[in-house]
Amino acid sequence: MFHTFAARKIENQIHKQMKLKIAVLAGDGIGPEISAQGVAVMSAVCEKFGHEVTSKEAICGATAIDAVGDPFPEETFKTCMDADAVLFSAVGDPKFDNNPSAKVRPEQGLLAMRKKLGLFANIRPVQTFDCLVHKSPLKDELVKGADFICIRELTGGMYFGEKKEGDDYAYDTNAYTRNEVERILKVAYQYARQRNKHLTVVDKANVLASSRLWRKVAQEMAPQYPDVKTDFMYVDNASMRMIQEPRFFDVMVTENTFGDILTDEGSCITGSMGLLPSASTGEHTPVFEPIHGSWPQAKGLNIANPLAQILSVAMLFEYFGLKAEGELVRKAVDASLDANVRTPEIQVEGGAKYGTKEVGAWIVDYIKKA
Ligand code: IPM
Ligand code: MG
Repeated sequence: MFHTFAARKIENQIHKQMKLKIAVLAGDGIGPEISAQGVAVMSAVCEKFGHEVTSKEAICGATAIDAVGDPFPEETFKTCMDADAVLFSAVGDPKFDNNPSAKVRPEQGLLAMRKKLGLFANIRPVQTFDCLVHKSPLKDELVKGADFICIRELTGGMYFGEKKEGDDYAYDTNAYTRNEVERILKVAYQYARQRNKHLTVVDKANVLASSRLWRKVAQEMAPQYPDVKTDFMYVDNASMRMIQEPRFFDVMVTENTFGDILTDEGSCITGSMGLLPSASTGEHTPVFEPIHGSWPQAKGLNIANPLAQILSVAMLFEYFGLKAEGELVRKAVDASLDANVRTPEIQVEGGAKYGTKEVGAWIVDYIKKA
């Protein structure tokens, strides 16, 4: 997968050896544990290919609220802006989840990061692993070979629209401008062109005005991409189609809220939430992160699956045009699965249970020997 925004780095790519400055935001819960494995894998690959990588850690989420009262402090923002890429893990803490009146929440840090870095395009691949098909709640024959990408708009819609939060009355506004819709559709078309040339625009145009703008803009743009088959699907129908026939999809594009919901559904198709990485790109530093959350109950237990984080590192390399590097990470992940070096939730019955650290170490070792 190659992202067009990588153009920014073209100069660097000409020289095979790259200098990468990475901001590492481990966040909360299992974040620090999976982050450590992601960083270790990134370093091993860089060493192998002769790239120079420097990483700088910065706080965010509940950890940052506890430390400085702000889930995305100015200093963290500066560290991100100063970096070539951000390797992000997860934020969230139950002490906030159960307190609707909390003034400041860890998730606001994530939203602030997205907004301040202008990360309007969230790329979430839903890819299945043949050896894990049986872990999916869906029937094997439905899941096998399912492979699509959800492109989620990330800085608009209800997440950021005007809101009011009163005791008896509250609202969120789902606002989109033509420009916001156009730029995300462009990204989606570029992905569709590099894949199987099938784009599904997911909306709720039978009810929502904002969706009708999406549909109108997409219909206007479609003729510019005659090689891509564009179709439209209502979000309720899309959620059904995803589990009835996940192979139908190649690239789907949708607004922020629908994308949030559909990608959780997508992650279930694969059998474990711990497997799916994502990239968020846009105006400033791109961010690479697992799609799962901070799983606070597992914090410190060394049971969280580091693969989504490690695959985020593969996406990071691919973003910079470092194809072989990304491929090696993917190969190492596949090999670990084949060798049954797996965290408990995807281990075969009776198989040895590996911890977060052990899976990470195995993958690092594989990369070193490759
Ligand atoms: C996601 C998450 C976030 C979102 C939360 C943590 C704010 O669910 O990245 O999908 O809703 O976007
Ligand atoms: Mg979500």
